[in-house]
Amino acid sequence: MTLRIRTFEEYEAVYQESVENPEAFWAAQADTFFWRKKWSKVLEWDFRKPDIKWFLGGKMNITENCLDRHLKTRGDQVAILWEPNDPGEAAKTFTYRELHAEVCRMAHVLKKHGIQKGDRICFYMPMIPELAIGLLACARIGAIHSVVFAGFSAHALADRINDATCKMVICADGNYRGNKSIPVKEVVDIALQNTPSIESVLVAQRTGQEVHWQSGRDFWLHEEMKTASESCEAEEMDSEDMLFILYTSGSTGKPKGVVHSCGGYMVYTAYSFKNVFQYDEGDVYWCTADIGWITGHSYIVYGPLLAGATTVMFEGVPTYPDAGRFWEICEKHQVNQFYTAPTAIRALQAQGDRHVTPHDLSKLKVLGTVGEPINTEAWEWYHRLVGKNKLPIVDTWWQTETGGIMISPLAGITWLKPTYATLPLPGIQPCLVNADGVELTENNVEGLLCIKFPWPSILRTTYGDHERCRLTYFSHFEDMYFTGDGARRDENGLYRIIGRVDDVINVSGHRMGTAEVENAINEHPQVVESAVVGFPHKIKGQGIYAFVICTEAPADDEAFRKEVRQVVTEEIGPIAKPDKIQIVSGLPKTRSGKIMRRILRKIADGTADSLGDVSTLLDPAVVEEIRAGVL
Ligand code: WTA
Repeated sequence: MTLRIRTFEEYEAVYQESVENPEAFWAAQADTFFWRKKWSKVLEWDFRKPDIKWFLGGKMNITENCLDRHLKTRGDQVAILWEPNDPGEAAKTFTYRELHAEVCRMAHVLKKHGIQKGDRICFYMPMIPELAIGLLACARIGAIHSVVFAGFSAHALADRINDATCKMVICADGNYRGNKSIPVKEVVDIALQNTPSIESVLVAQRTGQEVHWQSGRDFWLHEEMKTASESCEAEEMDSEDMLFILYTSGSTGKPKGVVHSCGGYMVYTAYSFKNVFQYDEGDVYWCTADIGWITGHSYIVYGPLLAGATTVMFEGVPTYPDAGRFWEICEKHQVNQFYTAPTAIRALQAQGDRHVTPHDLSKLKVLGTVGEPINTEAWEWYHRLVGKNKLPIVDTWWQTETGGIMISPLAGITWLKPTYATLPLPGIQPCLVNADGVELTENNVEGLLCIKFPWPSILRTTYGDHERCRLTYFSHFEDMYFTGDGARRDENGLYRIIGRVDDVINVSGHRMGTAEVENAINEHPQVVESAVVGFPHKIKGQGIYAFVICTEAPADDEAFRKEVRQVVTEEIGPIAKPDKIQIVSGLPKTRSGKIMRRILRKIADGTADSLGDVSTLLDPAVVEEIRAGVL
């Protein structure tokens, strides 16, 4: 089983060893898994290409490590504990044995529909057990899953399906969220009007709502599963075979498909899970993320199952039926480790302490956060009210591209400092550089966060466009992976993540490219041009502020704003809707036509008093006009 650090002294020693001799360190971790054939070489890497390979020549299947390996020792232990949206509906459990059987059955269904090793399958699903089972079924037969968060629009879904030329979509009829029942299959039907590669659709039944049916293409999952066998030989995979694609937003262009491979991802997610959360045998662990994002992939499904944990999967929202739902679930299922996002903490904090205090949270041992910087007030509230002033909070910094947690306290081991992600995990070598790429070696500095050495779950490529991967992450600074984040290192060497330094906005922990939102806004026929920036938002962390130039002044500003939001909802999804839309006659541009976002950001966050030098602008007067009209 994965090795676990238990004291700070041990952490320091292990960290040192992992830097001095990374290959031996990771080989020892990898040795705790089941390999069909052992690797012949631990690591080969060249960040310039980039070309990174871990555990070369190793043969394995991640599901044999998530499932089969546990059958003897914990076949009857709960693997997935599913809590439905409606507290009145019964929770569902799957023991490791049951989960194994379900995964095998679904793997047969995929095969029956012609899915083979290397084929891509798109998931567009609510948080129901079939989603986790489906991912594992893909991995079982070597198919590559590409999960698209079910809040994305038909348009965004079609783009992602086409980029990866997926052969199949797996979805549900509908989705229960709070007191709403949201159509899912309907969105898929629209997307599939423009996705020539899709041959079949498997539909899980959840809400029972009426759906359009295209016979020959659409199949009910439960019908297909009925006759499928409960055992299915796992496909032998190479360490470096692709495990999954997950789309994420960057500063330019369309979202890119981040690619993770089988062996390294397995080793790193299990190792980081065990150590960060200090998971003990028999604990109940709950991560509130959606599987549509990397957090759900790594720390609801793969990491916990690899570690033989009981992982809770929640279908609903934190505020339904009321703002006490998270704590009610913690009490009901006696949750030991609880992992959520700062935006959820802030939203619940705003609802008042009374939703927390009635609940028995005495089983909790570890609290965690992820996805965005946590502010001091939220940290303190979480620590005081939920953690009763004694539980460790692991503020985990990482990214879709890193596959797993990179900088974080190890619960109860690393000392804490509110709003600091603190120290790197063993094997992770972060550094701060200035704009010229010069490493800042002293403490008490701020700089651009880079990683100097590969770790097993680093992205391998961006699907279908390797050059884009190189340009985005490996071209800024020589021989370093550039994260896109700015960070501070304090006098003791602890890291605090400040936020993105590129044109990515983090809205409620969701990454959004400004260019992506602008492109969507520009689809409105009355829009000539737009510029989008983030601004501080009390609950969401950052909100979206759009400056828009129109062909002619709208007759009704509010109606126009509503239309723009509608267009964005159709192009991307409701999560990308601008909070503020300011109609302007021009944008601050340099003489070469580049929009000066720096100025717009300052106007949007109300710090426009110190705009700096605006003399390089084509039309400095426009700044005054925008400032006067700020929302
Ligand atoms: C931000 C989510 C501060 C950061 C796992 C990063 C954080 C981006 C933290 C990745 C944290 C994530 N503190 N900022 N603990 N965790 N971020 O790909 O800007 O959805 O680059 O992965 O979220 O977002 P992604």
